[in-house]
Amino acid sequence: MAEAQAQQRGGYAEDVSAGQPAQGGLRFEVDGEIATITLDRPEKRNAMTFATWSALAGIGENLPEQVRVVVVKGEGPSFSAGIDLRMFTPEGVPGQGSFSSAAAADAATFEQRLQQAQAGYLWLRRPEIVSIAAVRGHAIGAGFQLALACDLRIVADDVAFCMKEAALGLVPDLTGTKPLVELVGLAKAKDLCLTARVVHADEAVRIGLAEKVVPGSDLDQAVEDKIAQLLAVNRDAAAATKRLLQRAQGRSLEEQCAAEGAEQAARLKALFG
Ligand code: ACO
Repeated sequence: MAEAQAQQRGGYAEDVSAGQPAQGGLRFEVDGEIATITLDRPEKRNAMTFATWSALAGIGENLPEQVRVVVVKGEGPSFSAGIDLRMFTPEGVPGQGSFSSAAAADAATFEQRLQQAQAGYLWLRRPEIVSIAAVRGHAIGAGFQLALACDLRIVADDVAFCMKEAALGLVPDLTGTKPLVELVGLAKAKDLCLTARVVHADEAVRIGLAEKVVPGSDLDQAVEDKIAQLLAVNRDAAAATKRLLQRAQGRSLEEQCAAEGAEQAARLKALFG
């Protein structure tokens, strides 16, 4: 097992660092059916750069097939302070440019770069896996959106979610607006995004942003407990059910009933031949 894990890590390092700056700032570990991504720049509160998003996308592209649960967490006191603020300086992040160069770029170049960054978030919704954000401390902007990209959010009691983009003259563009609206409703999403106010643990649970809040010292155990529950159900049934749930909102009741039937027929065939 240890050798296989080392190979996974080696594969990851080779795959996601290809053509990328060294400052992706992530750790990635695979233990059987569980993968853990750790944002690992605690001294900068896990601020993220294009290299981080590109590395996230690389992990998604190369995720070992056996993985069923992906945990995303942050090293140190904060989940993530969001985008690295150097991106807003003329100098930018070495090797990665800045938003002033992005503004100067043509629309197609910007679109392409944004799609690469969004790809780092989108794969966490794949039906074949369940993603869990284990969030302690600040989850700001791009960090909040990373937590929103996950299926479940288990949070420490010091959590502080903040969609800060509007305060900086920006919009949230890392896939966060849709899950936010789906989780908390349109009015509350407007409240959070248009005020850039901080949501603490009690409110986060109350409005549906977090599934569970625990004392900080219990966060790892709470995540482990959730993983055990998730791994206890049938793998293929879980994927089929996640597909159904994720597509439910875009379908009519009739379409959803038909989709349930199609998934169940496939399940019955798989179970009983
Ligand atoms: N980008 C770059 N560096 C950062 C960032 C960031 N987003 N956030 C924190 N850091 C650095 C600080 O500059 C500091 O570095 P230094 O030790 O070299 O001076 C170090 O991380 C620690 O930060 P502190 O502010 O001292 O930590 P504290 O725990 O007191 O506060 C907090 C944490 C609240 C997250 C604060 O750092 C902060 O407000 N950061 C900026 C958040 C932000 O505006 N993010 C952008 C959101 S919009 C988006 O993501 C698209």
